[in-house]
Amino acid sequence: MKNFKKIFAVVLALAMLFCFAGCGAKDTNSGADAKAKLVMGTNAAFPPYEYVDDNGTIVGIDAEIAKAIADKLNMELEIKDMDFDSLITACAGGSIDVVLAGLTVNEERKLSVNFSDTYATGIQAIIVKEGSDIATADDLEGKTIGVQAGTTGDIYCTDDYGQENVKQYKTGVEAVMALQNGQVDCVIIDNEPAKSFVAANEGLKILDTEYAVEDYAIAVAKENTELLEKINKAMAELKADGTIDNIINKYIPAE
Ligand code: ARG
Repeated sequence: MKNFKKIFAVVLALAMLFCFAGCGAKDTNSGADAKAKLVMGTNAAFPPYEYVDDNGTIVGIDAEIAKAIADKLNMELEIKDMDFDSLITACAGGSIDVVLAGLTVNEERKLSVNFSDTYATGIQAIIVKEGSDIATADDLEGKTIGVQAGTTGDIYCTDDYGQENVKQYKTGVEAVMALQNGQVDCVIIDNEPAKSFVAANEGLKILDTEYAVEDYAIAVAKENTELLEKINKAMAELKADGTIDNIINKYIPAE
């Protein structure tokens, strides 16, 4: 009986030792200060919202807003660059947590994802070659229009002018190249990227008409309501303390 008690005590002590060792090992693995990740999907060919700088880093308004939100939530930001037209599906499917991509809030997308409060306004602009006979949206009938695939510009033009008149490109830059080469008569894309593409290319101009005005927001998977709430709270604070305005003004200097 005595022996049995002794053995039991030793086994118990060993068990406790292993347990502590196990717990200790676990702690060092996860690291006391390892942060949860916030994975952002974007299409980094959309300056000044997201683009790749000379060092190969993805920068821009969305990258900085996402970083500020991640910091507030004590999370580590990771940015994945992908095709624009796969972002919503990736978000709904969970391979990314959020989309920040100068992404317009629209009813069709709301069927697949939830949107945060909005943080910027976008305008669909029309880029033409200097000397073009297109002066307003009314002149677009029968013209060939270049767009970035899956964008709201693509959706509106396809609705308004018919699929046969709309040419889709993987990026806005490629649509602008097609305009330069005479493969399309105009490009419809968001105003700020339009300005940057026109600045980088001779002989192009933006028409003085607004084709559509829209809101940008962050997309989050439908079931991820807790993250959405946290993002909205963080964003409200970042709006109130001027952080969001500062980020936007840094990339879009007042004219
Ligand atoms: N605002 C437009 C949309 O939501 C275009 C966004 C394109 N964004 C990008 N990162 N390429 O459809």
